[in-house]
Amino acid sequence: MALVIERTIDQGPPAASDLALVAKNVVKAFHASGKDEKNKRIRAVDGISLSVLRGEIYGLLGANGSGKSTLIRLFSTLLEADSGQVTIFGYDIRDDEMAVKRLINRVSVEASFFKKLSAMENLVYAGRLYGVAPAQSRLRGTKILERLGIDAKRHDEPLEKLSRGMQQKVAIARAFLTAPTLLLLDEPTTGLDIRSKREVQAFVRELRAEHDATILLTTHDLEEAERLSDRIGIVDRGKLVAEGTVAELLTNANVSTLEEAFMGLTGHKLEDADERSEPHAP
Ligand SMILES: Nc1ncnc2c1ncn2[C@@H]1O[C@H](COP(=O)(O)OP(=O)(O)OP(=O)(O)O)[C@@H](O)[C@H]1O
Ligand SMILES: [Mg+2]
Repeated sequence: MALVIERTIDQGPPAASDLALVAKNVVKAFHASGKDEKNKRIRAVDGISLSVLRGEIYGLLGANGSGKSTLIRLFSTLLEADSGQVTIFGYDIRDDEMAVKRLINRVSVEASFFKKLSAMENLVYAGRLYGVAPAQSRLRGTKILERLGIDAKRHDEPLEKLSRGMQQKVAIARAFLTAPTLLLLDEPTTGLDIRSKREVQAFVRELRAEHDATILLTTHDLEEAERLSDRIGIVDRGKLVAEGTVAELLTNANVSTLEEAFMGLTGHKLEDADERSEPHAP
């Protein structure tokens, strides 16, 4: 509980420039995958509205299959919503896709890389796509990789030789390389050991503190949500069922732990997958 950063939110609605992301009633449905469910559609995201303030770390907390990754993919313009509206720093993601793409970066567990190339070569390549000069990518890349606990002697090894956890860190390094204004992190620490988890979490906080970064992350780790997020949004079956600081969530649910708040709001444990369908790849 100690690490919760309180934000004063009783000063009326924020000015437009203070809003990094605004989602209004976003809906995305998929055809169900089971053989008996041919005509069934699942609303992976079922009318979600939320706002992320500039400079905020906002954590989306939800069970497997609750719709977190779909929401992140919609925000990053990888998927198109069936209905609803999303603006990022005032740009509509449908009408101003290019402007939005310059402002955001998304990291997912399934990051795609050139596995035969080294971490550094991948960073340089990614930098080029964003107009970052190779020398600058190398300089920044070295710093970020070392900061994330990847020893310099591994920077030039083929990526396929690095552990999954290390590869995930390289994905994070790649996203930070271009200093995005809004960073979308889909389960940034899933699959990492405790130490790597802590390194990544510390780095995320550092980034927010030192750069003008806004971070929207998903997690199904209660402790991580609590440690990292200024505000938490609880997602269940494609809906945002509650939102607030940890203190607000606890007060509103009249409980003393985030786990109890989650149970009270959703009627199930965080470990229990959303049973709408089989889990889908992130
Ligand atoms: N491309 C797709 N086609 C069909 N169904 C999908 C697709 N993507 C997601 N779904 C379904 O939408 C729902 C939400 O999935 P999503 O991946 O967004 O959940 P999640 O909260 O990210 O879960 P996890 O914690 O496992 O990553 C699930 O029922 C999933 O099976
Ligand atoms: Mg997911």
